[in-house]
Amino acid sequence: MVRAGGLVVFPTETVYGLGANALDAAAVKGIFTAKGRPANNPVIVHVADVDRVREVAASWPDSAALLADRFWPGPLTLVLPRCERLPDAVTAGGPTVAVRIPAHPVALALLHAASLPIAAPSANRSTELSPTRAEHVLRGLDGRIDVLLDGGQTAGGIESTVLDLTAQPPRLLRPGLIGVAALEAIVGPVMRERALTVAAPNESQPPRSPGLMPRHYAPRTPLECVEGNGAARVASLLAEGRRVGWVTFSDSPNPYPEVMARRLPSDPAGYAARLYAVLHELDVAGLDRIVVTLPPHGDEWLAVRDRLQRAADAN
Ligand code: TXA
Ligand code: MG
Repeated sequence: MVRAGGLVVFPTETVYGLGANALDAAAVKGIFTAKGRPANNPVIVHVADVDRVREVAASWPDSAALLADRFWPGPLTLVLPRCERLPDAVTAGGPTVAVRIPAHPVALALLHAASLPIAAPSANRSTELSPTRAEHVLRGLDGRIDVLLDGGQTAGGIESTVLDLTAQPPRLLRPGLIGVAALEAIVGPVMRERALTVAAPNESQPPRSPGLMPRHYAPRTPLECVEGNGAARVASLLAEGRRVGWVTFSDSPNPYPEVMARRLPSDPAGYAARLYAVLHELDVAGLDRIVVTLPPHGDEWLAVRDRLQRAADAN
């Protein structure tokens, strides 16, 4: 199916991907059509092993070799200079390509069977929540894909870390399951994008990584984030007669029986693993508002806070 130019949804260790042959321009354009994704947002290329990176990237710096050795297969995407033969649709016409080896048996089996690099963004409509289960994929893409490989709930729960190795020092373009400290232990200081504080990019300049655009990863139900406990905010929404979903991560009991409350684990990895599944669940519950009690500041929560703030900014 991939070899024939089709669109195949497959599970990875992070979220589900919407895949097509990365060397077939028409197939890759099909991804953009299915997602409603703007053509200026490049997609990640998935490969089966390190040897195959050379089919899509023009160079393989020492830093890439060290990181791949440590983290691949796994949730780390490396931005490298691109190969000329790669279709422009993959890179949005830019000089670089983002590549990773996913750590999921189904994804790896697909890559080996196709024997091709597979371009795959997350398998959701543009700006919507990424899918961590097959049913989430169908919510947005039913009728727009050829095959869906159902691998159950994905383990990681949020998208991979994206690190640009064409910048000096390397630049973090998207925080993810692999934290900055783990990267810095291998490649030294990593620059953090100022935009990680979620400033709107200047429309006239192409974004360095469109994943940094604030409107991304959002449920359809308006979502707001609160620092601190959030009970006061929930109470005032209830007083206005709104139907409220509330995402917390602490042990304190929910004092409002009419609220659809979901408690996430209080460790960052456990929280990330369940975050999108909970947001999808609340999003189909017919609520007026989703309130999320933000986890603390600090590097270990960087990726989770990033996704939550984007979901809130999309309102
Ligand atoms: O975990 C993941 O990364 C999932 C699974 C399916 O692998 N994929 C994913 O893809 O989240 P997507 O397209 O939703 O996000 C890709 C991110 C975007 O922020 C995109 O802008 C950035 O990677 N990106 C892709 N190619 C790039 C490039 N050449 N330079 C800079 N950023 C790039
Ligand atoms: Mg995405």
